Amino acid sequence: MKAVVAGASGGIGQPLSLLLKACPLVDKLALYDVVNTPGVTADLSHISSIAQIEGYLPADDGMKKALTGADIVVIPAGIPRKPGMTRDDLFKINAGIVQGLVQGCAEHCPDAYILVISNPVNSTVPIAAEVLKKAGKFNAKKLFGVTTLDVVRSETFVQSITGERDPSKTVIPVIGGHSGETIVPLFSQAKPAVKIPEDKLDALVNRVQFGGDEVVKAKDGAGSATLSMAYAGYRFAEKVMKAAKGESGIIEPTFMYLPGVPGGDEIAKATGCEYFSVPVELGKEGALKATNIVKDANDYEKKLLEKCYEGLKGNISKGIDFVANPP
Ligand code: NAI
Repeated sequence: MKAVVAGASGGIGQPLSLLLKACPLVDKLALYDVVNTPGVTADLSHISSIAQIEGYLPADDGMKKALTGADIVVIPAGIPRKPGMTRDDLFKINAGIVQGLVQGCAEHCPDAYILVISNPVNSTVPIAAEVLKKAGKFNAKKLFGVTTLDVVRSETFVQSITGERDPSKTVIPVIGGHSGETIVPLFSQAKPAVKIPEDKLDALVNRVQFGGDEVVKAKDGAGSATLSMAYAGYRFAEKVMKAAKGESGIIEPTFMYLPGVPGGDEIAKATGCEYFSVPVELGKEGALKATNIVKDANDYEKKLLEKCYEGLKGNISKGIDFVANPP
């Protein structure tokens, strides 16, 4: 299993690379960034784990060398938010960065699983899909927008109500997109079931939707979530790799092009959104099946979903348009 981190020297990239270096499923780890990869690579190379590590800068065909032979590429490259910015404000810069990296994947590792972390995910995943389509290499089952941090936050924030010792034991489907009101946690579908007092529900949902802002504010200009994101990105990457190696029954929400995933068509029809995050069962070839959990939402959640559809459709079109009509 060769894993690549593109954007490996950044706030997310470094701890994510550390976790992948320590992961026994990874045989080879290639780090790619426009700065500092030699240092990060030298540092991580002293860790006594299985993964052999290589680091590349753009010079001397670095991107090609990093991506060639990759089985999984995780992309946290791009600028993060500062206080007062929305994820959409990042579009101008990050759209081009993701486009360039995914173009590289189309050329050098077209069969790899591609995990997009760079924001705004609601637009960067459609950008990635359009780039791959243009290159004739699009496989919807292997292109994932990483929304796991929203799931991780839901598990953590609901703990104050459940009192569970290990918050990760409560499974909460978080669906829709990955920004503000497009993030829809379905607490009604939690397993085991969770009873949330009515007067606490609005605040809990709001905290999941805008949890990223807490971190941006606390970091006070020094960026957005990096450590919790690296944990979440690793958790998702590990699931993809475990499924690739044959483990069955792995399900995690992720933002995908639904018409290209079994079971996705009916969800796309119901939501009016071709891209949407739902719990997806993972297998050797990527997504095996998208679960139509949208139909199980209660009336409160249906209202949240109406708002989600509105915002998400615009974000998706913006991404598609960026590739169709370059600025
Ligand atoms: P950062 O600025 O610390 O790191 C980004 C890294 O990308 C830098 O090392 C930079 O040199 C590198 N980079 C820039 N252009 C590149 C290119 N063309 N090729 C390769 N590397 C390139 O930013 P941070 O905090 O690590 O965040 C990265 C992205 O992840 C941001 O877009 C942020 O909004 C997003 N993010 C996504 C989350 C999610 O839940 N999906 C959560 C938190 C952040």
